[in-house]
Amino acid sequence: MAKTIAEGRSIIVGVTGASGAIYAQALLRMLDADSRVERVHLVVSDAGLRLLATELNVAVADGKKLPSRLTGTPAHKIECLPNKDIGASIASGSATLDAMVVIPCSAGALGAIASGIANDLLTRAADVCLKERRPLLLCLRETPLNRIHLENMLRVHDAGATVMPAMPAFYYGPSDIDDMIEQFVYRVLAQLGLPQQKQYRWKGGKS
Ligand SMILES: Cc1cc2nc3c(=O)[nH]c(=O)nc-3n(C[C@H](O)[C@H](O)[C@H](O)COP(=O)(O)O)c2cc1C
Repeated sequence: MAKTIAEGRSIIVGVTGASGAIYAQALLRMLDADSRVERVHLVVSDAGLRLLATELNVAVADGKKLPSRLTGTPAHKIECLPNKDIGASIASGSATLDAMVVIPCSAGALGAIASGIANDLLTRAADVCLKERRPLLLCLRETPLNRIHLENMLRVHDAGATVMPAMPAFYYGPSDIDDMIEQFVYRVLAQLGLPQQKQYRWKGGKS
């Protein structure tokens, strides 16, 4: 049955093996707490799992436990799907989904998506977003950037994705790292049509 406007959002969150697992954790917490969101499909690459263990000390034998370990809440609306399961619902354009965010996004995942390589659930779901003209946000984390990265960014941009590098801002005087991460994630949520009251908005400065 077609989704009605009154129903909540369904968002895919992809986590790859780029530094910045803390961004994914903050985004999942905010999506979990947002009453406008009905379902979150979490897909983590093998390198992403390694990152979660390295940067957040989160490692689980049973993927079903990953959402609650990451958010520190029951996380009932977040479902973790195995990256190997290319038969999951989100691998099909017929699934009712609103958008996908890859956060953090590795240069490798960017390259796969830019090339239309869809040989795991994360890259297949991203490919589906592009073909179905759904919002796809890639929070790339790599520096410096080589020519291949730059060309891949242009390719995914031209195919309909938004390249949103994981770059914190400084112009509002962040108080600490959590503040920087949260403000970046508020910008991601704004891109998804889920604006947050606490997002800092520049009101002009001294010339
Ligand atoms: C600790 C650690 C940090 C990494 N950080 C980055 C990074 O910031 N950006 C990046 O593009 N790759 C990074 N990598 C390399 C990727 O994890 C690697 O290219 C991997 O194959 C990406 O696979 P995936 O896109 O399927 O997650 C990192 C690897 C490790 C182990």
